[in-house]
Amino acid sequence: MFPKNMFFFLILTLATASAEDEDFTYNGFGAAKLRLDGIAEITTNGLLMLTDTRQPAKGHAFLPTPIRFKNSTTGKALSFSTSFIFAMIPKYEDLFGHGIAFVLAQSADLSYALPSQFLGLFNSSNSYSSNQIVAIEFDSNLNPEFNDIDNNHVGIDVNSPKSISSLHAAYYTNDDGGGFKNLSLVSGKPIQAWIEYSHLDGLLNVTLAPIDVAKPGVPRLSSNVNLSSLISDSMYVGFSSSVGPFITSHYILGWSFKLNGRAKALDLSRLPSLPRTGSKSRLESWKIGLLIILAILFLLIITIGIILLVNSRIKFREVFEDWELEYGPQRFCFKDLFLATKGFRDQHLLGAGGFGKVYRGVLPNTGIQVAVKQVSHESRQGMREFIAEIVSIGRLRHRNLVQLLGYCRRKRELLLVYEFMPNSSLDKYLFNQPKSMLSWGQRFQIIKGVASALYYLHEGWEKVVVHRDIKASNILLDDQMNGRLGDFGLARLYDHGTDPQTTHVVGTLGYLAPELAKTGKATTSTDVFAFGGFLLEVACGRRPIEIRASEQDIVLVDKVLECWKAGTILEARDPNLGNEYIAEEMEMVLKLGLLCSHPNSSSRPPMRLVILILEREAPLPEISEDGWNGEISAMGEEGFVDIGMSDSSLLTMSPFSASTTESVPLTGR
Ligand SMILES: *[C@@H]1O[C@H](CO)[C@@H](O)[C@H](O)[C@H]1NC(C)=O
Ligand SMILES: *[C@@H]1O[C@H](CO)[C@@H](O)[C@H](O)[C@H]1NC(C)=O
Ligand SMILES: *[C@@H]1O[C@H](CO)[C@@H](O)[C@H](O)[C@H]1NC(C)=O
Ligand SMILES: *[C@@H]1O[C@H](CO)[C@@H](O)[C@H](O)[C@H]1NC(C)=O
Ligand SMILES: *[C@@H]1O[C@H](CO)[C@@H](O)[C@H](O)[C@H]1NC(C)=O
Repeated sequence: MFPKNMFFFLILTLATASAEDEDFTYNGFGAAKLRLDGIAEITTNGLLMLTDTRQPAKGHAFLPTPIRFKNSTTGKALSFSTSFIFAMIPKYEDLFGHGIAFVLAQSADLSYALPSQFLGLFNSSNSYSSNQIVAIEFDSNLNPEFNDIDNNHVGIDVNSPKSISSLHAAYYTNDDGGGFKNLSLVSGKPIQAWIEYSHLDGLLNVTLAPIDVAKPGVPRLSSNVNLSSLISDSMYVGFSSSVGPFITSHYILGWSFKLNGRAKALDLSRLPSLPRTGSKSRLESWKIGLLIILAILFLLIITIGIILLVNSRIKFREVFEDWELEYGPQRFCFKDLFLATKGFRDQHLLGAGGFGKVYRGVLPNTGIQVAVKQVSHESRQGMREFIAEIVSIGRLRHRNLVQLLGYCRRKRELLLVYEFMPNSSLDKYLFNQPKSMLSWGQRFQIIKGVASALYYLHEGWEKVVVHRDIKASNILLDDQMNGRLGDFGLARLYDHGTDPQTTHVVGTLGYLAPELAKTGKATTSTDVFAFGGFLLEVACGRRPIEIRASEQDIVLVDKVLECWKAGTILEARDPNLGNEYIAEEMEMVLKLGLLCSHPNSSSRPPMRLVILILEREAPLPEISEDGWNGEISAMGEEGFVDIGMSDSSLLTMSPFSASTTESVPLTGR
């Protein structure tokens, strides 16, 4: 039986143990055959990765077969030498653990071992491992239970996590002074280690240095170890590593080993490169920072978007009440008007006056040119009636009226949309050295046009419309220089037959009939009075009241009246016309002007008659001299003051306010 047992023993030994001249070099582990367990693996670029970011975990890598570590004749441990390069890369700069160990183990089955401070080699239940283990640990964790000296040390462990010898990780430099340098194991940079054992003196030497430093002549740790008594005949050789709660990746880049001799130097140029090392945590924080910045940007964009949206909502907000539903077609939406006038830009401003500003615009959908008049108003009082009027006025159709297309309401603002008149207002061609003059023919044409429009307002429609603000600046000229009566901002409507009821005096100084200033009641007759003023304006080329004129010439009517009394009425004509006029027509217009401007409303002709006179279908009535008796002059001066005062006091009462300044033309220049 004994020989048979012996035989089996030999077979076993031969099968499991390698030759005594074991010698290998791995510059990277791409081609290496290793026995891996735990989470150890060889990466695609040839790194031996013992642990990664999983934790807690252990990883082992051994030569697949054990090595005969003892001289078979003497039974003494053999000398050996090994060199390897490792790197410990903590995820967070100040939190790391636990380390790497070079291991000689009787059994490569370390399934009983624990990670963390047990380095994947030992467990807590026994104080002395039953598996024979000699390990050189590179420990980055301070464990008081194992009498660790610090969290960055090199130690020799024999069957126990309590090192028999350990020192702070450092190296002696090879320069003349024999300097000494500390070395951080967890710097993330590759570190080279040399472990040598000589059976002659029984010294186990451990040397380490940064990868770019040549092997130091003096080992960091040199310990007397009777290896012969500590190991078995054959031992597995390899590495163990473990991590605890603090994520650290442990890598071996290259490894050489030689039994009974000096291990070959590693070829640094052939080593696999580490995954992006260095400040891994900084990379993380950089990423987090970027994410935060992106998130802030995102929020900012959202916020700006919301603000813009809300702003545009506010910007385009309009007032719309139920009773306006019936006016649907005449109702414009503010956004369209905003777009039409390019946001009510100054370049689109046609004019500004007592009522508000007028802008030129092009409606976005239809491309129709319009004039948009902004009328500011403070209260909603009377707004409903006023809108009704506006809409009603919008139904007026006459070739000598400026068409009102519709309206839009906003909080303190009413917008009236009119047909656009390309040739500005009549006053631009009459007063203050006009750039271009109108011939007498054109003037007479305009007079007839305005007269027919006014006749239409007074008598031609279902309701009597009193315009209230007839004057040259409210007469607009279309593309054919036809006079068009515009600006119904002041017009009020009266049903046929009912008494006119007016509470506000509105109109423009110089065009106000005396009884209007006294009673405040606007009638068709007061319109005729203003029309008379307009006739004289056109014929004489000056305003009804001109402060700059000499004392007795301030009031135009007075001047014409004097000329008439002196029998030289044509002297009152516009001097700019020279002789380019028809005397009969000029005389007729001047006389008609006086007639319409008569202080007694009963002496003024109705518009029906005015039309006939202009068409020479009715004779011009005699101008009565009664009633003038200086009343005009007195009225002129008194009225100037009175009306000015009453006007300003009425400004606040009228929803669409009156003004003694010029009304705004609805035209381009
Ligand atoms: C074993 O020891 C004997 C005697 O000292 C020696 O001759 C032999 O070379 C040694 N073998 C090895 C592999 O070192
Ligand atoms: C501890 O390790 C030893 C080997 O050293 C093993 O025999 C034992 O079963 C382990 N104990 C536990 C609880 O795993
Ligand atoms: C090395 O580290 C030890 C312990 O941290 C410290 O006492 C010593 O001063 C350091 N030496 C050098 C050269 O940095
Ligand atoms: C171990 O270190 C000591 C002291 O530096 C030295 O004398 C000895 O030769 C070294 N042994 C080996 C195997 O290098
Ligand atoms: C080393 O161990 C061997 C075997 O246990 C023993 O024979 C030898 O005397 C020991 N040597 C020393 C110096 O203790």
